[in-house]
Amino acid sequence: MTDTVPILRVENMTKRYGDKEVLKDATLSINKGELKVLIGPSGGGKSTLLQCINFLIEPDKGRIWLDGKEIIRARKKELYQYRQKVGMIFQDFNLFDHLTALNNVQIALVKVKGMSRDKARDMAILELDRVGLRDHMNQYPAELSGGQKQRVSIARALAMDPEIMLLDEPTSALDPELISEVLDVIRDVRADGMTMIMSTHQIGFASEMADEFVFLENGSIVETGPPETILYKAQCARTREFCSKITELYGSSFS
Ligand SMILES: Nc1ncnc2c1ncn2[C@@H]1O[C@H](COP(=O)(O)OP(=O)(O)OP(=O)(O)O)[C@@H](O)[C@H]1O
Ligand SMILES: [Mg+2]
Repeated sequence: MTDTVPILRVENMTKRYGDKEVLKDATLSINKGELKVLIGPSGGGKSTLLQCINFLIEPDKGRIWLDGKEIIRARKKELYQYRQKVGMIFQDFNLFDHLTALNNVQIALVKVKGMSRDKARDMAILELDRVGLRDHMNQYPAELSGGQKQRVSIARALAMDPEIMLLDEPTSALDPELISEVLDVIRDVRADGMTMIMSTHQIGFASEMADEFVFLENGSIVETGPPETILYKAQCARTREFCSKITELYGSSFS
């Protein structure tokens, strides 16, 4: 029975700005080790959903369970602990510009996890090594490429030992030749068993890696299913229309 409890369940997540409902009753579950990919047109609600999942955006409605336990936002300590278990990767890296790569990874370990500086440093070096950046650890973000910055951001999230990672278009701010170095790291993290929800336009990578695609439009989850089904045999006309455009534009591993 315990095997069937999803690691994360999100139910009826809803967000309004003024009278516009940008997320409408979004419900999804993800099992340990799975990768779910959010796809859909710009403005469809992908970033809003990801940010509501770790409460960076306060939803108007919606419930979340991690490991079968409901997260009650009003209980600040629980919320704080939950956020540590949910790593977030942003399109624009969100690094501290005044800190080296090493310090960007180390700081949360000291401040949030309460580790000693030495222990945090050792762990940060290990995580930077894991993303291939050991030789760049003393450089500042301004001295790193976009791909390297995103890898620092992934190392920082991994250092917190999250149960799940949320990635919001992690490669869309990158030059084409830097995209694959970040996708390779994400592939490795996935192979190590990390549970992930990611929005991306990298449809080839996504169709090769994802367990499930989630198609979001106008704030609603229209359809979910295995990548090949969603891309080529979707139930809804809107999903088919969107997917035929993206497969034409970007291709996929099935084509
Ligand atoms: N702070 C805000 N105030 C008002 N409206 C907002 C705000 N943030 C997002 N929105 C609106 O919410 C809707 C969903 O936006 P969201 O960023 O979640 O879409 P998305 O699917 O991530 O798009 P993209 O593919 O372009 O990243 C959009 O219509 C957007 O304009
Ligand atoms: Mg977005």
